[in-house]
Amino acid sequence: MLKIAVLISGSGSNLQTLIDGIKNKEIEGEIKIVISSNKEAYGLTRALENKIKGIYENKEEKIIAILKEEKIDLIVLAGYLKIISPKFVAAFKHKIINIHPSLIPSFCGKGYYGETVHEKALEYGVKVSGATVHFVDEGADTGPIIMQKCVPVYHEDTKNTLQERVLKVEHEILKEAVRLYCLGKIKVTGRSVKIHE
Ligand code: GRF
Repeated sequence: MLKIAVLISGSGSNLQTLIDGIKNKEIEGEIKIVISSNKEAYGLTRALENKIKGIYENKEEKIIAILKEEKIDLIVLAGYLKIISPKFVAAFKHKIINIHPSLIPSFCGKGYYGETVHEKALEYGVKVSGATVHFVDEGADTGPIIMQKCVPVYHEDTKNTLQERVLKVEHEILKEAVRLYCLGKIKVTGRSVKIHE
């Protein structure tokens, strides 16, 4: 059973999706710890309510030490707003995945998080947007792509209506990516990720 750590900064709706996926046995893994960069994050409450260890920690050295102590096999960045260092990435190569609320390589990278992503997509006038699950590498949102799912963008959309539509597919593809990872069905070669169904 893979040991999972989920890093958050906010409401934790993606975390909740993983908690529910494990509870209903869709995901063969165990969330050992939730680490938040924000002590007020509602995601910490979600952890507590589900008897999962949840801590507020910002010092990267400490975070790395905790992840090693807990013998974590998979780290999920779920609405985690901090950029992790090359040292952190190297310590857990191909064991860190991130969910991003756009179709990478559009609307991603430094400064593209939360509502900003959707504002920029609407400003640009794209007809589709969506979500991406990818491995984390040394760059910002640049790692090999694991899964993506599109959503339509409507003329009358606001950043909030678009965010809501994208968040729904974020939950879908994050749960599926973690499910497959726990089954050992995701293989990475260079930038290419193959899913062995
Ligand atoms: C959302 O905007 C989501 O797109 C991104 O992080 C934000 C918070 O997600 N991944 P969550 O509800 O905290 O999982």
